Amino acid sequence: MSPRATDFEKGDLIYEGKAKRLFTVQNHPDLIWQEFKDSLTAFNAQKKGSFENKGAVNRDITSLVFRFLAKQGVRSHWVMDIGDCEQITRRLTMLKVEVVVRNVLAGSTAKKFQFEEGTPLERPLTEFYYKEDVLNDPFISDEQALMLKVVSKQSELDELKRAALDVNRVLIEFFGGIGLDLIDFKIEFGRDPKSGQLLLADEITPDSCRLWDRVTREKMDKDRFRRDLGDVKESYEKVHTLLKSAWESKV
Ligand code: TMP
Ligand code: ASP
Repeated sequence: MSPRATDFEKGDLIYEGKAKRLFTVQNHPDLIWQEFKDSLTAFNAQKKGSFENKGAVNRDITSLVFRFLAKQGVRSHWVMDIGDCEQITRRLTMLKVEVVVRNVLAGSTAKKFQFEEGTPLERPLTEFYYKEDVLNDPFISDEQALMLKVVSKQSELDELKRAALDVNRVLIEFFGGIGLDLIDFKIEFGRDPKSGQLLLADEITPDSCRLWDRVTREKMDKDRFRRDLGDVKESYEKVHTLLKSAWESKV
């Protein structure tokens, strides 16, 4: 029988990040209780904000995306949603790396090479960033990732790139279905401690993706907050509403 929300009880706080809090789950050492906060930060938390309902919206978007990915054969840590802004996930050994995939140049890489934002790429670009707040999550090459022991061998970096490109293919379709172009995104992975299997973790939300309206090119993601474009809450809520109806029409 599959578990129900009432089977789980929240345990101790393990970690508080910028947008989420992680707790243990009583009597389930293999699970995590993940709570999405209403806070919004940018530039490694130098800029802070929040809006009402953000945690609930991002919890729902993450869950819709992870369930859509699962239907397409891409597995994540998601187990079930609980309450308005929480979810139960599998407890993984997280890799100390953020994987960014870009379909169109924007943000830091556009700036670095002085490309105009919005320049399409011939093929998706994968990039690794070392997950270390005190260093401001710097870009790392494959060899630096091996030096830092993010993983133990090159084949694992290749596996990460392949998995990220699989996620990209599915997400382009899911967001494309609601009229949004997936410009770029950041994902994180962990390994199941028992099987060693690589699973998608963390979140996929307008905090971690760039999403542009296909027709108007309007930004529908955290750049609205980073760049003071206004209508942050409205944009997140619109992405949520559209994704929810796309999901409901599919299941
Ligand atoms: P970047 O252009 O600033 O490198 O960002 C690339 C993508 O990664 C973009 O969709 C936003 C996301 N991202 C995060 O999720 N967390 C971060 O800390 C940063 C810097 C970017
Ligand atoms: N995620 C980072 C922060 O919360 C950076 C960003 O998204 O701009 O500060």
